[in-house]
Amino acid sequence: MREKIDFTGVEQTMLATLYLRAWESRSKDSILRDHVAAGVVDRIDYDFGKLMLRGGAGNRFMLALRSKQLDDWTADFLRRHPDSVVLHLGCGLDSRAFRLGLPVGVRWFDVDLPDVIDLRRKLYPELDGYRTIGSSVTETRWLDEIPTEYPVLVIAEGLLMYLTENENKRLLQQLTDRFSGGELLFDGFAPWVVRLTQRMSKRLARKGYPSYWTAIRDRREIERWNPRFRYLEDVPFASLYAKIPVRVYRVTYRLMNMIPASRDFYRMFRFGF
Ligand SMILES: C[S@@+](CC[C@H](N)C(=O)[O-])C[C@H]1O[C@@H](n2cnc3c(N)ncnc32)[C@H](O)[C@@H]1O
Repeated sequence: MREKIDFTGVEQTMLATLYLRAWESRSKDSILRDHVAAGVVDRIDYDFGKLMLRGGAGNRFMLALRSKQLDDWTADFLRRHPDSVVLHLGCGLDSRAFRLGLPVGVRWFDVDLPDVIDLRRKLYPELDGYRTIGSSVTETRWLDEIPTEYPVLVIAEGLLMYLTENENKRLLQQLTDRFSGGELLFDGFAPWVVRLTQRMSKRLARKGYPSYWTAIRDRREIERWNPRFRYLEDVPFASLYAKIPVRVYRVTYRLMNMIPASRDFYRMFRFGF
């Protein structure tokens, strides 16, 4: 039976990302090959088409490139730390743990708001080493469930922009207070993009989307928020244009990559702590 759902606001955003990954993965030249996402979309009774913004077809490549970059960094961390904890924050219905396969020894926690996790539990199997937690990441109690004696990989894909800067700072502080070391992977928008979504808030709200709150001003932003973090790497999504199989989008993103303001508007980041 298909799951009938109805989400609004920030929870609805995970349906758009799931749908775009599924769409991209149906192409024979897929960047991400997220066939789990395609299977999950088929099991949900929902009009995904209504989520698409005008001119949004190219977003499937943006999504695939960001997820692939974060997958590659995740796989690299798990190779270096086979005995580790993964905190996949704001996981939505993303299939990362299933896409990558869970090495024995890894304890993976998918964390999102309670309604999202309730749906997730109906769609994904329980596995050894894999658990879901239904809680806001801004609450502190969920962290009591996480073992602290292992290196930790924190993945926050499509999440930090929806929290306020103070919420982000508090969250990162709680992580560095608790864990002795690890890495943080996330994506972030430049300040002008955040301002633009706030100016467009009414139009976005008509489609059920919230605006962004937090921008990443430059590669040192997280170090300023919390000096335990050290910058390792960042990748502007447009710099990965060569992987896009459809020419018109490959050329568009290539042109964006030539101009610093459009190259750096959206980046994936890797920090150590
Ligand atoms: C854009 S979606 C990204 C989902 C997933 N990471 C992906 O890439 O498909 C944002 C996700 O963050 C979750 N989220 C937003 N605020 C949250 C909070 N305070 N605590 C936990 N999850 C939150 C939403 O419910 C949603 O699933």
